[in-house]
Amino acid sequence: MFYILWVVSFVSFLLDTHASSCDENCADKPVFTPPTVVVKYGDSISVTCSACQSGCNDEQTGLENPVGDKTKNGTTILWTVDRMTEWDINVFCYHSNASDYQCCSLLPLTVYKPPDSVSISFDGPSGPMFEGHQYTLQCKVQNVAPVGDLTVTFYRGQTALGQAKSTNDLKKPVNETFTLSVNTSKEDDGVQYWCEGKLELGSEGPQPPLLVKSENITSTVLYKPQLEGPSHPEPIVVTEGNPLQLNCSAVGNPSPSYTWTLPLADFSSSNSSTLVFTSVTSRNEGQYTCHVSNTLGAIDVTFNVVVKGLLTSTTSPPTTTTSATTAPATTAPATTAPATTAPSSSSSSSSSSILIYRFIMCFMLLISVVV
Ligand SMILES: *[C@@H]1O[C@H](CO)[C@@H](O)[C@H](O)[C@H]1NC(C)=O
Ligand SMILES: *[C@@H]1O[C@H](CO)[C@@H](O)[C@H](O)[C@H]1NC(C)=O
Ligand SMILES: *[C@@H]1O[C@H](CO)[C@@H](O)[C@H](O)[C@H]1NC(C)=O
Ligand SMILES: *[C@@H]1O[C@H](CO)[C@@H](O)[C@H](O)[C@H]1NC(C)=O
Ligand SMILES: *[C@@H]1O[C@H](CO)[C@@H](O)[C@H](O)[C@H]1NC(C)=O
Ligand SMILES: *[C@@H]1O[C@H](CO)[C@@H](O)[C@H](O)[C@H]1NC(C)=O
Ligand SMILES: *[C@@H]1O[C@H](CO)[C@@H](O)[C@H](O)[C@H]1NC(C)=O
Repeated sequence: MFYILWVVSFVSFLLDTHASSCDENCADKPVFTPPTVVVKYGDSISVTCSACQSGCNDEQTGLENPVGDKTKNGTTILWTVDRMTEWDINVFCYHSNASDYQCCSLLPLTVYKPPDSVSISFDGPSGPMFEGHQYTLQCKVQNVAPVGDLTVTFYRGQTALGQAKSTNDLKKPVNETFTLSVNTSKEDDGVQYWCEGKLELGSEGPQPPLLVKSENITSTVLYKPQLEGPSHPEPIVVTEGNPLQLNCSAVGNPSPSYTWTLPLADFSSSNSSTLVFTSVTSRNEGQYTCHVSNTLGAIDVTFNVVVKGLLTSTTSPPTTTTSATTAPATTAPATTAPATTAPSSSSSSSSSSILIYRFIMCFMLLISVVV
């Protein structure tokens, strides 16, 4: 029993010293043709080794090949493998002299495997993202070898965002996840992200290099309302009888809702970004506020409308009259209601109604005290 163990360890000792006594920095090194081999897992290989160039004993030349077959012809050795199914093997070709000194070359051999799949996702819980936050894109590459030759590129639409490489030097296939941080802005809403794995195996490898793309993912970014159009002149001066359009169009996700506050504290219930008057009168003068909101925030846009009477407009130069719009009445898509539903009471009549209201309140108080 001990004898067998001793023999086994002695043999492995011999095999170890055999490899370690091999000098790769000698003159007249064995030469492989082709000089480097890049083979897809499962494919065949055929390489010849010329053990020495300036003469050596063909009895003392050889090839160490863990797999495949070899054929010797003088100092030339042919190594063939029908189906390469090893990931990490060392193939040496050598010649030695009488004192067992070995001069050898190691065959640069790469066994590769394109990824089974490349997929992209955002780290963390799925669902919409928020503007101004940092998120991590992850690109999962499955069953690729050698991962050290893989470069992953992240894309936003057609724009490359960045690249990632593995630090792993394993020759067997691995699964690896590559990441990239992105900061979201409103421009990222509805944008497509994808990633691509590229195996770069040098000039002996497949040309062009192997590419595997992921599917697209569409990002949803929630953001508070932001005004679309340019800011309007202040105040908006419009001549009586002319049309007027007030526009506070905004973008946001979720889609914003609009509420208008008209002069004389009247509310418009219409959920429209524009307010259209086909023909303004002096009653349309005053301050309009457009309240734009969604679940993430709100903005108020104020329009101060000054209506010029026809008489005053003829005495003043026409260039000072500013109209906020040129929209014809027939194509106006938005509400025209405020022009007709605006309270007809003047400011003096509304203040007198407040006086009457206060008087009634005082009277009722008096009665309740007496009772
Ligand atoms: C061995 O090599 C020589 C010279 O390169 C060639 O002429 C000969 O045909 C080869 N023999 C075999 C069996 O391949
Ligand atoms: C074999 O080569 C080695 C290294 O060049 C040298 O030191 C040694 O003397 C050689 N032996 C013979 C028998 O030529
Ligand atoms: C992903 O989107 C990009 C641009 O947005 C497009 O060019 C590409 O064809 C899409 N890929 C797939 C797999 O749909
Ligand atoms: C890679 O992932 C796949 C699917 O999850 C799994 O079947 C496979 O065993 C993994 N491979 C390695 C090397 O971990
Ligand atoms: C994202 O924002 C953080 C903090 O504001 C910043 O440190 C980081 O550099 C940004 N990253 C990118 C890719 O713009
Ligand atoms: C309101 O303004 C926006 C941005 O300028 C514009 O896209 C939109 O067509 C305008 N709406 C109307 C009804 O004119
Ligand atoms: C207003 O319109 C937007 C977009 O059409 C919609 O998402 C929103 O729910 C509406 N708001 C109200 C209060 O009806």
